[in-house]
Formats: sequence, structure tokens, C-alpha cells
Amino acid sequence: MSYTEGMLRDGALKGKTILVTGGGTGLGRSMGTYFLKLGANLIITSRKIEVLEKTAKEMEKETGGQVLAVSCDVRDAEQVEHVYNKGLEKFGKIDVVLNNAAGNFISPTERLSTNAFNTVVDIVLKGSANVTMVIGKKWIDAGQAGTFLNIVTTYAWTGSGYVVPSAAAKAGVLAMTRSLAVEWAKYKIRSNAIAPGPFPTEGAWSRLLPGDLVKKFDPAKKVPVGRVGEHQELANIAAYLVSDFSAYVNGEVITIDGGEWLKGAGEFNNLDMIPQEMWDMMEASRGKKQ
Ligand code: HXC
Ligand code: NAP
Repeated sequence: MSYTEGMLRDGALKGKTILVTGGGTGLGRSMGTYFLKLGANLIITSRKIEVLEKTAKEMEKETGGQVLAVSCDVRDAEQVEHVYNKGLEKFGKIDVVLNNAAGNFISPTERLSTNAFNTVVDIVLKGSANVTMVIGKKWIDAGQAGTFLNIVTTYAWTGSGYVVPSAAAKAGVLAMTRSLAVEWAKYKIRSNAIAPGPFPTEGAWSRLLPGDLVKKFDPAKKVPVGRVGEHQELANIAAYLVSDFSAYVNGEVITIDGGEWLKGAGEFNNLDMIPQEMWDMMEASRGKKQ
């Protein structure tokens, strides 16, 4: 048994239709593929239809499941409505929404234009809100149960320099998750979040570690367990949170970062740098005084 293996039993998501925004690439693609393996029907959306269609074909071939690819810019509520209608036409219903689409890049904040700031907030916060509002209202009107799962990150609560629009937007998504978990529970709608630490993807690495930065800043070095994440271990948590096994989990954010954010937070965690010989010397000199 290993963290690179699927965790849930076969058929755990059978009968569910799951919409994954940003589902054509990276983590969205990995989570979507695992949902298909567990028996779900899948709808993937993003702006680039060519990417979505290619991914959908590859996913169907790999899993034997059914994938509907629909282009949608999450910044436009009408396009979200279109995805909902297409999903209904093909699968009869949508049970789960995974808000995974995001935009991000590193920059000193004083160098950001107003449009740069707005672009990230519009995709991450307002985009997730559009999808949540459009589909949440449909579920409420139909008296249908539903589950939202939102991908944030650990700087949603710590904040982080150089990604300020993303940090502000992800904090907003986390607040929305917790707020709706309470407000919409009466409609049988659950809302949870996952906060991943570093998981290598083309999309994230090209924007957060551009050029030579990838050689200078090895993300694994910041992680107490000494490595970056494997997509399957994220997919395992995601599958659990959208499955009925997690029916009593609501308003939660599950961190999966190998202890990374706490390493930065704990006052004395950098004493890791002290070699064993120095601890030996300190212990010996303590002994002498007694
Ligand atoms: C400063 C930048 C910039 C950069 C774009 N802009 N890139 N400013 N530094 N690196 C500015 C532009 O100059 C422009 O402002 C404004 O932002 C909009 O840029 P566009 O290119 O027109 O926007 P758009 O085509 O909508 O593309 C959105 C995008 C792009 C966010 C800029 O990178 C994108 O499509 N990203 C999607 C995928 C993605 O980002 N994946 C990574 C997620 S990783 P002006 O003023 O010039 O008009 C992630 C990880 C979190 O979230 C946690 C990790 C641990
Ligand atoms: P990614 O592959 O770049 O995924 C982002 C996806 O969002 C892309 O498929 C992109 O597709 C889509 N997207 C962007 N703008 C959109 C818009 N306006 N409308 C619809 N779709 C849009 O990067 P990733 O690393 O897998 O990121 C996935 C999620 O994980 C994000 O929420 C990210 O913040 C989060 N996360 C990642 C990491 C990490 O280390 N990788 C860590 C913490 C959190 P199009 O370009 O086709 O639109």
C-alpha cells in the first residue's frame, strides 16, 4: 500500500456526475481521472476547448468512463449556465462541483497593474463564486442535494508576499466555503475545501517558478517530509470529500502539504539547522553545571 495508489473502493462515486473547473490540466485533470476510475461521470471546463477535448478523449481511454468537455470562462456567469445546461442534457444532473480553476503569477505587489490584480481575483474568487451561485441556485430550486469542493492553498490563512491577489482571492474562497457550509446545509448542500502545498504542475511551476527560479528554489526543501506532493494523494482526499463517505464533513479545509506551512510558522522550527554535534555539546555543558 502506498500514497501513489487510489484509496477508495471501486464504484465509490458510481451514479455521481462531477463538474471540475480547470479540469483539462494539472491537478484538476488528476482528480477528475480518479473520479472516473471510481465510477463517476465527469464534466470538465476551462477556456481552451482544444485542451479539454484532448484531455477528455485521453481520460475516457484510460478509465472507460464518460467525459463531457465544455468551454467556459468562470468569470462569465452566462457561460457557467451553459455548462450546467450541457451537463444536464448529457447526464441528467450534476451532483458535485469542484472549484479548481485558478490564475496566478508571482510579482512584487507594487509592480502589479490594477488589471493584473483584478484578473487573478476575477478568476479565483469571483469565478468560484459564479460557479457556486449558478449551480447552487439550481440545486436549491430543484430540491437536489449537492457538494462543493473548493481548492484553496495554505496562504489563504497565512497570506503570502509576491502572490497577493491570489492570497486575497483564496482567502475569500475559504470564507465562502465556510459560510455556505452553514447557510446551505439546510438544502443538503455541503461545502469543503482542500489546501494543497506544492504539487508539481506545468501551470503552477511555469508561473510561480519561471526561468531559473525552479533551480534556485526547490519547493521540496521547505517541506518537513522532504518532498512535494503526488497527484494521487490529493485525488484521494478529493474523492473522499465528494463521496458520501464524508457526509458529516462540512465546512472543513483539509491541508495536504507535508507540514510545509507550519514549518514556516513555528518559532523555533529553524533549529533544524543545528547539527547533532552542537546539541551534544550543549547537552554536555548543561551536564557540567549540575
Ligand atoms: C505581472 C502580469 C503577469 C505577471 C499577467 N500579468 N502576467 N503582471 N506579472 N507574471 C498582467 C497582464 O500584464 C495584464 O495586466 C493582466 O495581468 C491580465 O493578463 P492577461 O494575460 O491578459 O490575462 P489572461 O489572458 O486572462 O490570463 C490570466 C493569467 C494567466 C492569470 C495572467 O497566467 C493564466 O491564464 N493563468 C491560468 C493558469 C494558472 O495561472 N495556473 C497556475 C495556478 S497555480 P495589464 O495591466 O498589462 O493589462 C496556483 C498555486 C497556488 O494557484 C499555490 C502554490 C503553492
Ligand atoms: P493549472 O494546470 O494551471 O490549472 C488551472 C486551470 O484553471 C487550467 O486548466 C486553466 O485552463 C483553468 N482556468 C484558468 N483561468 C480560467 C478561467 N477564467 N475560466 C475557466 N478556467 C480557467 O494549475 P494547477 O497547479 O493544476 O492548479 C489547480 C488548482 O490547484 C488551482 O486552484 C491552484 O490554485 C491550486 N493549487 C495548486 C498548487 C500546486 O502546487 N500546483 C498548490 C496549491 C493550490 P484554461 O487556461 O484552459 O482556462
